[in-house]
Amino acid sequence: MTGILSADGSKRLVLVSGRAHPELAAAVAQEMGTELLPTSAYDFANGEIYVRFGESVRGADVFVLQSHTSPINQWIMEQMIMVDALKRASAKTITVIAPFYGYARQDKKHKGREPISARLIADMYEVAGADRLMSVDLHTAQLQGFFNGPVDHLWAMPLLTDYVKSRVEDLSNVTVVSPDAGRIKVAEKWAAKLGGHPLAFVHKTRDINQPNQAVANRVVGDVAGRTCVLVDDLIDTGGTIAEAVRVCMESGAKEVIVAATHGVLSDPAAQRLQESGASEVVVTDTLPITEDKRFEKLTVLSIAPLIARAIEEVFADGSVTSLFEGNS
Ligand code: R5P
Repeated sequence: MTGILSADGSKRLVLVSGRAHPELAAAVAQEMGTELLPTSAYDFANGEIYVRFGESVRGADVFVLQSHTSPINQWIMEQMIMVDALKRASAKTITVIAPFYGYARQDKKHKGREPISARLIADMYEVAGADRLMSVDLHTAQLQGFFNGPVDHLWAMPLLTDYVKSRVEDLSNVTVVSPDAGRIKVAEKWAAKLGGHPLAFVHKTRDINQPNQAVANRVVGDVAGRTCVLVDDLIDTGGTIAEAVRVCMESGAKEVIVAATHGVLSDPAAQRLQESGASEVVVTDTLPITEDKRFEKLTVLSIAPLIARAIEEVFADGSVTSLFEGNS
């Protein structure tokens, strides 16, 4: 039977994956020394999704990995259907792993008559039968409260900061830059992790009636002559980051390295980022980075080891927090 048995043989861990990001699922399975549960999934002519697992999951602790990439609604729905199938097949526990939590940006109402879509997604997983959620770098930490059960909030920061440390020759000349005032707390953690560096932030404005359009007005903080490490949770169309790079360079930065967890990279992000003036753009593979999204200055780090370790901790009733030295 596919999966991993606990030391005393009383529990069975099973990893299943949707069709959105098979490379990540395979990498996580390999890290854990297991195989993915054989699964059939296909679409009917009208777009409905069919899923069936090839082996029993009765009594198993099942982890359902799906990357919320484009077409995002299809992949979220597929994950819901997988959870439903697992519940009806008597899985003991079902953990939804959404390395990038779709709709996380819609976590509040800016105006009347808007939805709170991030909450709706959490409710839908609960109704489908999920016992637990696991995600990496949620857009805002309070999203954890949207799901009425345990949420394991993983941080890609140690992975990204280790890479940046290996890449920057003179760490004493680093300024950590937040692309907007709202993410200054995250930038503070980055600065501490890189060795207590000064902070700066970009004063960004956005017209809430125009999605995907951001304007950076100026950078607040000391960036002249310094290596700027510009950090964000996600890069979608690249507008926010390209604008932030622009104002840093205009303010005399020596170079700008961009680090973000989720490379959504919707068109025209690749071109914008390549031409932005950043010396390097670093993301993880929580989302698939297809060939058309890749560009010369892009570096992609694997998130699979982190997800694999977190699954193992959950299965063993260990500590996910211990993976992050108390930052989780
Ligand atoms: C904003 O709050 C987010 O952290 C990102 O900065 C933003 O969503 C990225 O979008 P885009 O790349 O399209 O500017």
